[in-house]
Amino acid sequence: MTDKSLLIKDARLLDPGQSLDKVADVLITDGEIKWIGKGQTPANVETINAAGLILTPGFIDIHCHLREPGLEYKENISTGTRAAARGGFTTVCCMPNTSPPVDSKSLVEYVLRRAAAEAVIRVLPIGCISKAQQGKELAEMGGMASAGAVAFSDDGKPVANANLMRQALSYSLTLNMPIIDHCEDPALFEGGLMNESPTSYRLGLKGIPSAAEETMVGRDIALAALTGAHVHIAHISTAGSVDLVRNAKAKGVRVTAEVTPHHLLMTDDWVTGVRIIGGSSATANPYDTSTKVNPPLRAKSDAAALLEALKDGTIDCIATDHAPHDVVDKSQEYDHASFGISGIETAFGLLMALVHTGKLDIKTLVEKLTVAPAKVIGHGYKGIKAGAPAELTLLNPDEEWTVDVNSFLSKGKNSPLNGIILKGKVKATIYDGKIVYSDVNDAATAPRKKTNA
Ligand code: DOR
Repeated sequence: MTDKSLLIKDARLLDPGQSLDKVADVLITDGEIKWIGKGQTPANVETINAAGLILTPGFIDIHCHLREPGLEYKENISTGTRAAARGGFTTVCCMPNTSPPVDSKSLVEYVLRRAAAEAVIRVLPIGCISKAQQGKELAEMGGMASAGAVAFSDDGKPVANANLMRQALSYSLTLNMPIIDHCEDPALFEGGLMNESPTSYRLGLKGIPSAAEETMVGRDIALAALTGAHVHIAHISTAGSVDLVRNAKAKGVRVTAEVTPHHLLMTDDWVTGVRIIGGSSATANPYDTSTKVNPPLRAKSDAAALLEALKDGTIDCIATDHAPHDVVDKSQEYDHASFGISGIETAFGLLMALVHTGKLDIKTLVEKLTVAPAKVIGHGYKGIKAGAPAELTLLNPDEEWTVDVNSFLSKGKNSPLNGIILKGKVKATIYDGKIVYSDVNDAATAPRKKTNA
């Protein structure tokens, strides 16, 4: 039986994958884009008036934590994918640092079974590099690939043993899949809590030097060059790492990189209580554990270098590293709290601060959230064209809303953006031709009341 059709009227269609930028109508029937522009409209049609809104391919997040199996008290596939849909994402790749870690064919199958039952969008699992993320021997990469894993990573933990990393890279070549690299030298990182800087000395928090990341980025670029394999640098955070990636790319090494919204827009002074995004600010206490993240929020000069690298293509794409934690994991002294920011629902609004301040254009932003991440993993991108599966995101670039962590669909309320006004809002997310998120009933994020003051 034919599903009810959906007509999106007068949206600005923005698809950087095919240089599409025009105002038109889109008809969706049976999960597919039936036509763009003009065509026969069926009688049984639901219409969205999208004048003034932007319609893009569904966003793709190649780095998030859905916490299944085993850590469902932090997040599960149902809540995590609903949160992702609220963030505009139609495809997410979930990291394997679960309990147990996803290091076998049967565990990849388990995640996919759970996703088939619970997810509202596409879930692509990432398998471990090493068994139980112990960094001692390779996990069954071939088996996981045959079950549907799209990449390998020990995210959350570095692969300290260079020879094991070499083996993983060599093996990934035969599977034609990337190794996603959590770059952290364990000895330099040891006990670190925030970026090593004058601020960390002032706050009395043990610092994590930039070199803890950069030594590993350098090592793994050398191993990618040695093996010819594709290494993807996760959550790149320092100006030095950017230089290493830029030089390696110039030499033809197969290295790609992602940056998170928080490393682009927040800096280490957020640990002191600073909260400023665009024209909005909020009050927060120093030592607020929602700012504790790995890699840590870095210096302003790092954030500036990351943005330049995103624009010049050194950094390929944006990924959220959505890391939801339970309130108990975060309601601790800074030293003991878990690392991570719940960021999938705020990603677009936060990133739009770059657009509204003239630092990034909206086309590049959409490219870095759609075509570019799909290219890194070789999956997920569905353009806006007739016959393509309908995976779409409808955006209001100018709508302001106040972040309220209690309204998050994610179980993780650990966001330092609570109370901040963001300009740029996801209005609806369409997956398989159906509206999987609409902000119409999203009372908690209803537009901020305008005051005349
Ligand atoms: O802050 C982080 N949290 N960084 C990581 O690499 C892992 C993540 C998590 O799993 O919570």
